[in-house]
Amino acid sequence: MGRDVVGRVVIMRARPSDAGAMARVFVKAFGHRGPLEPVVTNFGVSMEVQPDGCFVALLNSSVIGTGCFFDYGRVAWVGNVAVVPELQRRGVGTAIMLRILGELRARGVETVRLDATEQGRRLYRKLGFVEEYHTIMYRLSREASEEVSYGGVEVLDELPEFALEFDRRAFGADRTHVLASWVRRRAKVLVVARDGYALLRKGFLGPVIARSYGVAKTLVTRAIRLGAQRMIVPSASRDAVRLVEELGAEEVTRCIRMRLGPMYPKDVGGIYGILGCAKG
Ligand SMILES: CC(C)(COP(=O)(O)OP(=O)(O)OC[C@H]1O[C@@H](n2cnc3c(N)ncnc32)[C@H](O)[C@@H]1OP(=O)(O)O)[C@@H](O)C(=O)NCCC(=O)NCCS
Repeated sequence: MGRDVVGRVVIMRARPSDAGAMARVFVKAFGHRGPLEPVVTNFGVSMEVQPDGCFVALLNSSVIGTGCFFDYGRVAWVGNVAVVPELQRRGVGTAIMLRILGELRARGVETVRLDATEQGRRLYRKLGFVEEYHTIMYRLSREASEEVSYGGVEVLDELPEFALEFDRRAFGADRTHVLASWVRRRAKVLVVARDGYALLRKGFLGPVIARSYGVAKTLVTRAIRLGAQRMIVPSASRDAVRLVEELGAEEVTRCIRMRLGPMYPKDVGGIYGILGCAKG
């Protein structure tokens, strides 16, 4: 394979039928060892909620790179940026990002955010992104939460309006369509009436949004009893980090949250767990 690959690479909008090929690229790029099916589901969700937001890099008609965005209005999230290992460092990742940023600019998005790996960080810096804080993935501990009570948490299969309003205020934008897509895929909705809510998606917990530390603790504890194994915490929220550590969670990996454009939303108040690295 020659070095001048990028001149022959075409960046195209992905179609739903590309989800399998995109998942394979992602798994190779990240050296992911788990089953492929949840990764395919993730790309499926991305294309369902933002049908025009996923891109593939094609070389000789094969998918060799991916990247997606979620447009929440004033702010957008970029994620799933990946290039197969054998074709990295030839400009393909940059080409995918430039296409995505061009699209977002044309849509009038002011702020773009993402959660970068160490490998991605240099690329994004070159494109003008600045570092904000870490998003830390924790493995939750069942034993350490054994003693904590979790009364007052209801488990629902739909999102009550108060939870959506709560989410809008903490996140700074309306992401009902993304949350609803997970609920259609049988995510459990945990709520403490008017004070907080969380989504549990097959072992992954997030978002967790709560009015107080105590409410967040109750939600996370109940989620652990229901099978939550991992959650991603913004390091900028000291309470969130304190909470998972108090519950005996262990850090697994961390990403660097980066931003292009004005600081919006301004803080992470009320956010104890994020929805996901590619989604905000
Ligand atoms: C991060 C990732 C998407 C970057 O993709 P990529 O195609 O390698 O990106 P680019 O080639 O555009 O840029 C990467 C580096 O190659 C350099 N580069 C670009 N074109 C080049 C060329 N023709 N020759 C040599 N180097 C080149 C870039 O300057 C950049 O250098 P740096 O790392 O020293 O800053 C890819 O490494 C990847 O999939 N990693 C694993 C998954 C991951 O971490 N994804 C990011 C999630 S946030």
